[in-house]
Amino acid sequence: LAPATFQHRLLAWFDHAGRHDLPWQRERTPYRVWVSEIMLQQTQVTTVIPYFERFMAHFPTLAALAAASQDEVLHLWTGLGYYARGRNLHKAARQVMEKHGGELPVESLEALAELPGIGRSTAGAIIAQSTGRRAVILDGNVKRSLSRLHAVEGWPGRPAVERRLWALAEHFTPEARVADYTQAMMDLGATLCRRGMPECGRCPFADVCVAHARGEQRRFPESKPK
Ligand code: ADE
Repeated sequence: LAPATFQHRLLAWFDHAGRHDLPWQRERTPYRVWVSEIMLQQTQVTTVIPYFERFMAHFPTLAALAAASQDEVLHLWTGLGYYARGRNLHKAARQVMEKHGGELPVESLEALAELPGIGRSTAGAIIAQSTGRRAVILDGNVKRSLSRLHAVEGWPGRPAVERRLWALAEHFTPEARVADYTQAMMDLGATLCRRGMPECGRCPFADVCVAHARGEQRRFPESKPK
């Protein structure tokens, strides 16, 4: 499957079936995209929306977040779960005030990924969504879709398997429309190519998906060996 074909099909699917009016898509500042990506790491979009809106009402800027107490931040996180995310967000905001003059360092993937709570994939998502610059993502959703499409054997927690998945993610990421491409990959994994029972009947890649051709889509990605 040529990258251009993959991108074209994915974006055509995204244009009609993807989500285009989420709160963090309306005003794509690095700060808003960052907060949304952290909230979305372990939580579904529909749950995140009201928390995101409340959070932005209380802390409209990164400086406001950095100036708050950890208690205030965790209070707004109550119910979202995985509280380390809230603590890291607050800690990262303070580091950005100290080390980066109050601006998230979106010009540097490395600098972003050094902040608490931001790994390589989240750093890529923030750059792609807020600047439109080419950046590669590989979160759990994307790992699942890519491992099914290419029938990537082995548990993605193994370094060799993870390297292969990063190489595939890199290979398919376009130069243009990177924000849409990134969102489309996450939407595909979250909606059609989901865990359990994927909806292959509506997938734009059903005819080229190796796992689907073998009727083995539920075997990928492989789980952790016992
Ligand atoms: N998971 C992580 N980031 C996401 C996003 N932007 N949209 C949907 N699911 C996500």
